[in-house]
Amino acid sequence: MPARLATTVLLARVLAGLLAFAAAGPVAAQHELTGELPPVGAAMRELVVVAGATGRSGRLIIAQLRSAGRYELRALARDPRAAAREIGAEYSWVAADVTQPETLASALDGATYVISAIGARERSGPDGPEFVDFGGVRNLVDAARSAGVRQFVLISSAGAGGEGGFNRWLLNLIGGDVLTWKARGEAALRASGLPYTIVRPGGLRDVPGGQAGLLLLQGDRKSGDVSRADVASVVIATLGNPDATGKTFELITDPAVPREAWRSQFRRLAPDVASR
Ligand SMILES: NC(=O)c1ccc[n+]([C@@H]2O[C@H](COP(=O)([O-])OP(=O)(O)OC[C@H]3O[C@@H](n4cnc5c(N)ncnc54)[C@H](OP(=O)(O)O)[C@@H]3O)[C@@H](O)[C@H]2O)c1
Repeated sequence: MPARLATTVLLARVLAGLLAFAAAGPVAAQHELTGELPPVGAAMRELVVVAGATGRSGRLIIAQLRSAGRYELRALARDPRAAAREIGAEYSWVAADVTQPETLASALDGATYVISAIGARERSGPDGPEFVDFGGVRNLVDAARSAGVRQFVLISSAGAGGEGGFNRWLLNLIGGDVLTWKARGEAALRASGLPYTIVRPGGLRDVPGGQAGLLLLQGDRKSGDVSRADVASVVIATLGNPDATGKTFELITDPAVPREAWRSQFRRLAPDVASR
């Protein structure tokens, strides 16, 4: 190569290097100087994956999460097309069936939080409590652990921790041992090593939320009911909340309690023994 051409090529390379350095911008330069991480952009927001998003509680959870706008959101459905049609195409619907573990890895990929609002639609068979409230929860928990999820929030049921009583006996009788299978689903989550919160609502009602005070209880001794909208609010308030982590609690309405008092109640709940 003639000397003049070689000099030109060398100059061009130096110039290209300088331009590339300038294009990397102040963030990279500052990072190199201070060791600080680049600022977190919208694309890096925490991702909440909601299983059971088509259910009566699940759809309130995704609606509240969406209007809060704080998280990225992924809604799981057995039939995502039907879900988009019936519930809303504005959600990011992903196909997943909790009884089919092979559908869960990609559904939970990148998740920071998983909320399970699933519940058996049948009282027996492959869509019954054994394979949904126990097996399905266990499959979700396993997938969440593999995905490195930071917290798993499970909607279980009041009565799942009870030692007996007429209500539990009756619900188990009507619901194909649903409370017994839910208790086993809870146990699988506690044993997983994942940070978790277990919410056990009383009888679910389709009435507006925020109309009455809420009680967060432990020991599973008291019965009551609660609106699905309030369950959604409480579940969302547990996300990333250290005062709610490693804890199981019942949730019922109590008109005698101030409406927003529940927000400060997580702290006084005792951690589960297994997670201490
Ligand atoms: N009913 C009550 O009074 C009461 C009281 C206490 C606790 N709970 C519990 O609270 C939770 C929410 O109850 P809800 O009445 O709001 O729920 P729901 O309306 O019965 O919805 C159940 C959800 O679970 C999903 N699901 C069922 N089998 C599935 C599977 N194999 N794979 C993936 N998803 C599946 C359903 O999806 P599809 O739309 O595809 O069927 C649906 O999204 C449940 O765990 C329930 O047991 C209920």
